[in-house]
Amino acid sequence: MWNTFIVEGGYLIGAVTFVLGLKMLSHPETARRGNLLAAFGMALAIAVTLFFYRRDGQPVGNLPWILLAMAIGTVIGWWMAVKVKMTAMPQMVSFFNGMGGACAALISLVEYKAHPQHELGFLLSIFLGLVIGSVSFSGSMVAYLKLEGKVGNAHHPVLRVLNVLVLIGILALIVVGALGLEPFGEGNLPWVLFVIALLYGVMFVMPIGGADMPVVISLLNSFTGVAAAMGGFLYDNMIMLTGGILVGSAGTILTILMTRAMNRSLLNVLVGAFGGAGAAAAVKDGDKTIKEISIPDAAIMLAYSQRVAIIPGYGLAVAQAQHACHDLEKALEEKGVEVYYAIHPVAGRMPGHMNVLLAEADVPYDKLLEAEQANELLPQTDVAIVVGANDVVNPLAETDPTSPIAGMPVIRAWEAKRVIVIKRSLRPGYAKIDNPLFYMDNTYMLFNDAKKALSELVLEVKQA
Ligand code: TAP
Repeated sequence: MWNTFIVEGGYLIGAVTFVLGLKMLSHPETARRGNLLAAFGMALAIAVTLFFYRRDGQPVGNLPWILLAMAIGTVIGWWMAVKVKMTAMPQMVSFFNGMGGACAALISLVEYKAHPQHELGFLLSIFLGLVIGSVSFSGSMVAYLKLEGKVGNAHHPVLRVLNVLVLIGILALIVVGALGLEPFGEGNLPWVLFVIALLYGVMFVMPIGGADMPVVISLLNSFTGVAAAMGGFLYDNMIMLTGGILVGSAGTILTILMTRAMNRSLLNVLVGAFGGAGAAAAVKDGDKTIKEISIPDAAIMLAYSQRVAIIPGYGLAVAQAQHACHDLEKALEEKGVEVYYAIHPVAGRMPGHMNVLLAEADVPYDKLLEAEQANELLPQTDVAIVVGANDVVNPLAETDPTSPIAGMPVIRAWEAKRVIVIKRSLRPGYAKIDNPLFYMDNTYMLFNDAKKALSELVLEVKQA
């Protein structure tokens, strides 16, 4: 009796910490504490399950094995999280998410075998958990390899038709399985579904283009949540159910927000190809004259401005230039210049990438303007300084309907009186397309590593 009380009490506290933790994640100042709070809740839920849960009066078995597996998982997870570079975060998220999917699928495989009496609800939870978990696992692994640059895109139209057919086949097999039929011999249906779902996960992610990967990762994230929730139904376990539903719904909301930020529908992401190589060069060679600027000249331009916009991008993360960026902002403010940051929702390689980086350098949150607000302020801005950003300031998104980034909202850096672009070369960004901003009359290119350029600018601004 008191065991049930402890378990249910632990689950209740766990569920409350998950909700509070998620809420706290919505602001950089509270995000770290939110993460820790939810992790505490999860640890509590695991501990009460291991030590107090009773099934038919029996405690959880194989405790030493479970603890050993947890210890190994903890060490590997800890090591990966400590080692990971900010720029490789999406890969890690994808990898960890895939592991969650694999767990859900394995639970279904094990439980199907362990329980000979099969009712409709039980079978449905088993097969849905199995299929969704397997798709999430293999899909996340492909996403991981794509982000690592180890796998390219496969755009063949036949693949899309094949995908639809395989999906119909999977749904039909789930219905067959839920009705308790065994078309492949006793006990074999889950294995057949497991293999087909793994294949489907690969085929479903393969055609999706580079810049759409975060949307897919977040969609796979929500799949893992739903698969875990199926485990909750299976075991009649409230904390698995709550956790799974929270991940599922948060992932779905994030997916919708990201497709909105890129001005694309989810269907378009799933069936279209975006950000692939081979996009037409949109700037004619004759128009390609650039103006370079030196560090001292750029410093003078900045120091004698009234208002400066800093537009960070992926290059800021690569160069780890967030602290230098904050130093420049402070140096300019000491000269009486008003400084704000223009943050594009998909700048960098994951949602909130720039916010996280700048928060790490203690940039005040109220200085970060969203794209829409920044675009209103840019025409009244003296200098827009673009730091390692490219696609998110590309005017082609607005002017060239054939461009792979057509329709994506962009930060209109070119509307500032003058623009300084800090990057190392004229190489394109993630979407692999040229950027007419670099060749505009009011643009000055500062070819350098972002951290080095910003640090030198700080010294020069102080002396200006
Ligand atoms: P990008 O378009 O990828 O451009 C980044 C630029 O940074 C590059 O052109 C590169 O030019 C420069 N750079 C790299 N290392 C640098 C360094 N050490 N110092 C200075 N510059 C450096 O980045 P963006 O403008 O942030 O756009 C993001 C793109 O990624 C979008 O297409 C977006 O859709 C996509 N994406 C976004 C996400 C999310 S959710 N945020 C996830 C995946 C993909 P050089 O090589 O010439 O230096």
